[in-house]
Amino acid sequence: MKVGILTGGGDCPGLNAVIRAIVRKGVFHYQDEFVGFMEGWRGLLEDKTMALDLSTVGGILPRGGTILRTSRTNPAKHGDGLQKCIDALKKHGCDALVAIGGDDTLSVALKLHQKGVKVVGVPKTIDNDLAGTDFTFGFDTAVNIATGAIDRVHTTAEAHNRVIVVEVMGRDSGWIALYSGIGGGADVILIPERPFDIDEVAELIRQRHARGRYFSIVVAAEGAKFAADVELHDGAPIVQEVGKDEFGHQRLGGIGNVLAREIEKRTGFETRSVVLGHIQRGGTPSAFDRVLATRYGLGAIDMVHRGEFGNMAALRGNKIGSVPLAEAVSSNRKVDPEMIDAATGILDKLEKEKEPAAK
Ligand code: F6P
Repeated sequence: MKVGILTGGGDCPGLNAVIRAIVRKGVFHYQDEFVGFMEGWRGLLEDKTMALDLSTVGGILPRGGTILRTSRTNPAKHGDGLQKCIDALKKHGCDALVAIGGDDTLSVALKLHQKGVKVVGVPKTIDNDLAGTDFTFGFDTAVNIATGAIDRVHTTAEAHNRVIVVEVMGRDSGWIALYSGIGGGADVILIPERPFDIDEVAELIRQRHARGRYFSIVVAAEGAKFAADVELHDGAPIVQEVGKDEFGHQRLGGIGNVLAREIEKRTGFETRSVVLGHIQRGGTPSAFDRVLATRYGLGAIDMVHRGEFGNMAALRGNKIGSVPLAEAVSSNRKVDPEMIDAATGILDKLEKEKEPAAK
């Protein structure tokens, strides 16, 4: 068979490991040929390709980024873009396409499948918020980077008696914030799933310092929201600039700064903020992500040969299986309430003033 491969959306440590696994198993076990479409869906729209064979995938396992490069191009926003994608696949003699991406990339894959394209998806996002799979590759690396950063921030916060707010990625779900916050021993963890009351956050920090701890670490997902009843940001995420990408997403960022200002104003404690940003997505994947990404790649090429089109490779428990693309893109996967309970169990509790008992 001849199989096309593309990587779309934000990059993610482990993308190269997926590409490598697909190509190696495809060549060794199935005698497949491959073509790489460059820069996500843009590669099909603009006919940008690269050869993918044993030599081009050699040595890429530990490399971050993606040799196919990536973009947030949405063919549906480019006139007859979907038809152009179909034409590009025909032109290159592709019998099937493997699309490696998050919900945006996979929603385009689903549209193409509905038009008859033989497509298989592989779930990718450091945010770990794709439905239908237990974990996405890239998440473990991002959590390790964020946890390492929190460890570092701890020592300087302690040395200066400061509060430090660490802003991590996580547009709609707080997976990175929750895992790195627990792993790094943060004192407050703020996630998009639970809008927060800034006065409660400040009170919690005040109470902690009253007990003799003169520094605090706050971890906030970029998509965390002030509770709607607070005038500050009225329940909306904080955005960097006006304007949306081709999938309708605003660019988030800035909550760390706003929080630092508001915490300092309310508590009087000197407060700083750090934005980890793309550092979380860059560099070499963790060993866990290399293994997971490799397993996804092997699963995807097997799915192509079993004819499981319109599906996405998925991790369920510790097995790689497959789920319909429609299920994967139907909703955003929120953090497990059980994990929130785990975090709440170890965080300091807010000691609210007890109401005097009614006589
Ligand atoms: O890949 C998802 C994500 O990491 C989000 O958490 C974040 O909002 C976004 O990517 C940032 O993407 P960009 O690279 O376009 O700035």
